[in-house]
Amino acid sequence: MSASVETASLLADRIIALEESSTLAMTKKARELAAQGHKVISLSVGEPDFKTPKHICEAAKQAIDEGYHGYSPVAGYADLRKAIADKFKRENNIDWKPENIVVSTGAKHSLANVIQVLVNPGDEVVILAPYWVSYSEMVKLAEGKSVVLDGAFENNFKVTAEQLEAAITDRTKIVMYASPNNPTGSVYSEAELRAIADVIARHENVFVLADEIYEHINFTPNGHFSIGSIPEIKDRVITVNGVAKGFAMTGWRIGYIGAAKWIADGVEKLQGQVTSGTNSIAQRATIAALNGPTEPTREMAQAYERRRDLVVKLLKEIPGFKVNVPEGAFYAFPDISYYYGKSDGETTINNSDDFALWLLNKAYVATVAGSGFGAPYGLRISTAASDESLTEAVQRIKEAVATLK
Ligand SMILES: Cc1ncc(COP(=O)(O)O)c(C=O)c1O
Repeated sequence: MSASVETASLLADRIIALEESSTLAMTKKARELAAQGHKVISLSVGEPDFKTPKHICEAAKQAIDEGYHGYSPVAGYADLRKAIADKFKRENNIDWKPENIVVSTGAKHSLANVIQVLVNPGDEVVILAPYWVSYSEMVKLAEGKSVVLDGAFENNFKVTAEQLEAAITDRTKIVMYASPNNPTGSVYSEAELRAIADVIARHENVFVLADEIYEHINFTPNGHFSIGSIPEIKDRVITVNGVAKGFAMTGWRIGYIGAAKWIADGVEKLQGQVTSGTNSIAQRATIAALNGPTEPTREMAQAYERRRDLVVKLLKEIPGFKVNVPEGAFYAFPDISYYYGKSDGETTINNSDDFALWLLNKAYVATVAGSGFGAPYGLRISTAASDESLTEAVQRIKEAVATLK
């Protein structure tokens, strides 16, 4: 049977209902235009533009030579789980034993696993928006119900404890968020997370899924704070992290959780039937990443901060754009809604999807519409690119929007 409208309808309902990842979709379109010979500047993908530090690559080569060629334990090698438990203690003040750790195929996999393991059909998952595109789709796959809470631009896109309290019902199972945040770069401070933890402490059946994948790319003076370090709710916090962003290891596909043992056991059980232990060589490399020198990570974070400054300055010069100052990660997220309803004479822009597509076709700059992040007024621009590319891209955006009337 060839692919067609009819065969597509044979897919399972859960796949038909699933949205395609908007970040990956834009990256695909940008590649197509580039293949046609257009000079596309791609700022759509959430990926460091650095290479994996050398000592980590060396550890992987050594692992191949030493014969790490077979299946690994489902939850990860014992010495990797120990390295992760040590990291949680050292950097996050969270006391987990190796038995509380499960290693998976990227933080994306870790998040999806936890949702599958905890969410029953009809359970509510409160998502602090703007949120990473996959959260709501992972909840959908588990037949849960997303309850999206909007972080206001004026509050640097952060949801308050009062908003959270008002949203919790008898069906609430999980509250999930990322800090530093994708797409906004916002960072929840210790005080804000303590206020959120107070709310969680009052609702004893509610869990927190804390996505800390951008932990090391944090420009705030006080640095990162982990909600899982608060003793009153520790057993109900699942902390997700990985090596993709902080160590420039997106393709190695290693993520992990620290969680109460019964949750970790549930994830191990699921993984044992679906994927087994993740890539053995990448696991060995991750031990080198976590136990090795911190300078490469720090240097990359400094480069992201410098680029953040550059991009924020340039974006603020574009009439109609409302620009926040990201405190971490490697994205800018201007509010572009001033241009909705405007036209360049050929195309009318009605929403963020129109804007991102129009910008790609008109100026060959690939970005991602805010709609997929639960923030239809915004546009995500990755700052993980060279100064020259970023300067040229923002100049192109400026010239393109000048044609909108
Ligand atoms: C907020 C957030 N969480 C998780 C991930 C997934 O990370 P990984 O590459 O380890 O699966 C991403 C990647 O873009 C992300 O932005």
